[in-house]
Amino acid sequence: MRIVVLTGAGISAESGLRTFRAGDGLWEEHRLEDVATPEAYASDPSLVHRFYNARRSATSQAQPNAAHHALAALQQQHDLTLVTQNVDDLHERAGSTQLIHMHGELAQALCASCGHRWSSPAEMDVTTTCPSCRKATARPDIVWFGEMPYHMENIWKALENAEIFAAIGTSGQVYPAAGFVQHARRNGAHCIELNIDPTAVSRDFHEHIIGPATETVPEWVKEL
Ligand code: APR
Repeated sequence: MRIVVLTGAGISAESGLRTFRAGDGLWEEHRLEDVATPEAYASDPSLVHRFYNARRSATSQAQPNAAHHALAALQQQHDLTLVTQNVDDLHERAGSTQLIHMHGELAQALCASCGHRWSSPAEMDVTTTCPSCRKATARPDIVWFGEMPYHMENIWKALENAEIFAAIGTSGQVYPAAGFVQHARRNGAHCIELNIDPTAVSRDFHEHIIGPATETVPEWVKEL
């Protein structure tokens, strides 16, 4: 079966990583939209580095959960394209491969001057230099608000060929990911939403499986 799965922050919630829109969505009294942007990086790069250093350390202390492991098992049984909006490495640590990180990854650094990418150190600051051009313009390789998500061509193609599209733990509030269900549905996929709550795009799905991902995802994978 050709399956496309899109995951969001909800799949890592039970691993202890905060989602974006639950609670106050604040970090050090800053709104996320004020930290995860090119403007924030231009005006206060050390604040932005502090934000991602904190997230890198939280991620290193978190463990993949049963939902991540179930998706790694699913990849062994079906033709699975796993797309994640998450920047943590919990899918990889559960054994998933060929993952598409459409919003980038905490584990990667990007040079704002020359575009070079390298494995990110645990902590970066305004003195961190690019190994290639030696300029102190290292940034997290994360897609910020207003920037283009990665690998969109491959994602649209996978959605056009999917027999099943499942969205797990995402609120459907950020595009283009929130529009994936409509694209898959238009191309004949059976669309399933796995979440603890209804979302902004629930009406676009054929089927809804309500509950925590660590319970619903292993169950769903077993049924498949
Ligand atoms: N099991 C399943 N779903 C859960 C769980 C859980 N244990 N806990 C929370 N959820 C659901 C919430 O109901 C919500 O629908 O996960 C979703 C989390 O939504 P958001 O916090 O908005 O995260 P996400 O949808 O991934 O955000 C998308 O927005 O901030 C940007 O780039 C950032 O990738 C992020 C994007």
